[in-house]
Amino acid sequence: MSKKILVTGGVGYIGSHTVVELQQSGYQVLIVDNLSNSTEKIVDQIEKITGTRPGFTKLDLGDRTETLAYFKKHSDISGVIHFAAYKAVGESTTVPLKYYHNNLFSLINLLEAMDEIQCNSLVFSSSCTVYGQPEELPVSESAPVQKALSPYGNTKQISEEIIYDHSQTSALEAISLRYFNPIGAHESALIGELPLGVPNNLVPFITQTAMGKREMLKIWGDDYNTIDGTAIRDYIHVVDLAKAHVVALERMHGDKKHQRYEVFNLGTGEGSTVLDVILTFQSVNGVKINYQVAERRPGDVEKVWADTRKANEVLGWKTELGLDVMLKSAWEWEKKLNEGILGDLDKFRGNIR
Ligand code: UD1
Repeated sequence: MSKKILVTGGVGYIGSHTVVELQQSGYQVLIVDNLSNSTEKIVDQIEKITGTRPGFTKLDLGDRTETLAYFKKHSDISGVIHFAAYKAVGESTTVPLKYYHNNLFSLINLLEAMDEIQCNSLVFSSSCTVYGQPEELPVSESAPVQKALSPYGNTKQISEEIIYDHSQTSALEAISLRYFNPIGAHESALIGELPLGVPNNLVPFITQTAMGKREMLKIWGDDYNTIDGTAIRDYIHVVDLAKAHVVALERMHGDKKHQRYEVFNLGTGEGSTVLDVILTFQSVNGVKINYQVAERRPGDVEKVWADTRKANEVLGWKTELGLDVMLKSAWEWEKKLNEGILGDLDKFRGNIR
């Protein structure tokens, strides 16, 4: 019998790609999601890719009673990958309690429910935001965690601490994966990023501008201390990122020596400026984007990219897909959404203007 893995937030952007990779690695997958930022239609899309329908339950992990009941019913779950959380940095600065409440209570309820059924393997979705603006680049896992620039970022830091503390006093083993900037879509263009309303992140804004849904992309600042003045990030293909979750799970389930709690950076190790991303998008896809330079966005760091040695050598994972593939796949997904090939999935994006 194949192992049963629970993916929380499994119809979200990174979650759905991870479900596909898990299924293709032979796991049985269950999804719980409260659908606050996604749609159940993604379950159909996953089934189209893999030929297998993951189990889906609409569940809010903030509801402790329901969460415990779910785990009692599925007591054969052997590992959990936890994506379910709010992630809009800007929004978190205006409604911090919404973020603390959702992201932290969900995690605590999840850990308690896992204990109840003695499910002792957790992969946690963390972020490079915990490093703030690092003093040394590339940034390694041993760099100090800095005071968070947003309540969202703080929930990631606190969550890591909660998981660490619990792992030291229980049977739990956990791996936190600190993502750099995930972009792109599955090569089938059947799943991808589906932001509600105006996108906060760079690549969905680029694809929607290229599609004519948005008039103008604003580059947030060109006076940074970088080669072209625009900020640097380490963009990573979401499929490479998804695969790391399978490897992390297998590390905990395998015989290799490991610690109860571990942290890995997930990036390519290469930094690209905002302008690099725009120019690469234009050249690989043969489309033009209207853009102009605007003021810096508050809270943005100047530059960050990953030291990937620990992920490469200890986790045994590395990225395979480059920026061109990432940006091509993002455009294929945007085009497919607009052709209506995915039915009314595009409408889900709601008030797009
Ligand atoms: C942020 C968070 C990250 C979080 C992610 C998910 C920080 C430091 N990072 O990543 O933890 O997981 O969001 O939401 O808080 N840009 C433009 N114009 C745009 C949009 C973006 O110029 O319209 C620039 C940004 O200034 C930045 C780069 O593009 O330099 C990437 O921005 P974005 O995609 O929003 O990701 P981060 O801010 O790096």
